[in-house]
Amino acid sequence: MTDLKNIENYNYSLEKIFPEAEDFLPIMGTDYVEYYVGNAKQAAHFYKTALGFQSLAYAGLETGMKDRTSYVVVQDKIRLVFTTPMPNTENTEIFEHITKHGDGVKVIALWVEDARKSWEETTKRGARSYFEPRVEKDEDGEIVRAGIHTYGDTVHIFVERKNYHGVFMPKFEKWESHYNPKPCGLKYIDHMVGNVDWGQMDVWSKFYREVMGFAQLISFDDKDISTEYTALMSKVMTNGNGRIKFPINEPAKGKKKSQIEEYVDFYRGAGCQHIAVATDDIVFTVSEMKKRGVEFLYVPGEYYDTVEDRVGEIAEDMAVLKQHGIMVDRDDEGYLLQIFTKPLTDRPTLFFEIIQRKGAQSFGKGNFKALFESIEAEQRRRGTL
Ligand code: FE2
Repeated sequence: MTDLKNIENYNYSLEKIFPEAEDFLPIMGTDYVEYYVGNAKQAAHFYKTALGFQSLAYAGLETGMKDRTSYVVVQDKIRLVFTTPMPNTENTEIFEHITKHGDGVKVIALWVEDARKSWEETTKRGARSYFEPRVEKDEDGEIVRAGIHTYGDTVHIFVERKNYHGVFMPKFEKWESHYNPKPCGLKYIDHMVGNVDWGQMDVWSKFYREVMGFAQLISFDDKDISTEYTALMSKVMTNGNGRIKFPINEPAKGKKKSQIEEYVDFYRGAGCQHIAVATDDIVFTVSEMKKRGVEFLYVPGEYYDTVEDRVGEIAEDMAVLKQHGIMVDRDDEGYLLQIFTKPLTDRPTLFFEIIQRKGAQSFGKGNFKALFESIEAEQRRRGTL
């Protein structure tokens, strides 16, 4: 298997570790993730309080941004933007997005060397343009951005910021706050998952292969990912340096409704299902987030009766992992620890995964059954199983 060791260091090397990825862009990392939400000010407050993000930047009426308000928060290498539309605009895209999807991820922005070339190469290969390359300037320099559509109403924006030294982007000013809760140890985005409708997984994995130059890392079929009741299928796509990983899920037939179908029903279309963030100390991260009100999926106690037989010796105290509901899985390169929040939005759509990799570069296949039984218990409570 490909040696992925340098992913752990998260250096910004463009060295290709997946030779099968064409990787013509290439991408250096996730630049930011932008949500369209009903109330950006309150969403940003929640992510600061509950997940340990810090205030970074603000754009709104005071900064010359007339049609929307955006708050940007940061934690280590993760930048999240929360955007709400203002009524004095003819651009109804954000209103429509919120009405249709509820609060959700609109933009997965990718950090590139050359935004113009990224847009040209992808649209040439069939990507639908969201907007053409544009230069945005202020006294701190200029950034170049361009956008393409991906699944559902989600878009990718290519961001070139080598000539920019400001806090975030033109029209944004530094957001100074007297309220600065401590970080929870979230370090970078490990992967972001897209849920698509029946029959669409191959369409979108092909998009990432042919239009974005990605390679397929793993494929899971409904036999890998099923319980007695529900099932799904997944293909994990990666860019050349492994910095960007996008699993694409679609529902599969089971006795009851697939969790992916539930997502698509409530999001009213394809969209981002979860953001997996890496930590160096999952016990610390989860304890902090729990203290601050984040709810996690419940893992049945029996899971821990057999986990040691499955994963062997690990450095962590299994009793502590059990107390928090943190799951463990092992592959031939090492092991990983992971846990999933309940949805962070009102609709059962977007959630976070917290992941600590100790060598393993896989996705916790050994935990799928316990995890999905836990999700089914939540679906049962919602009356959507
Ligand atoms: Fe995940």
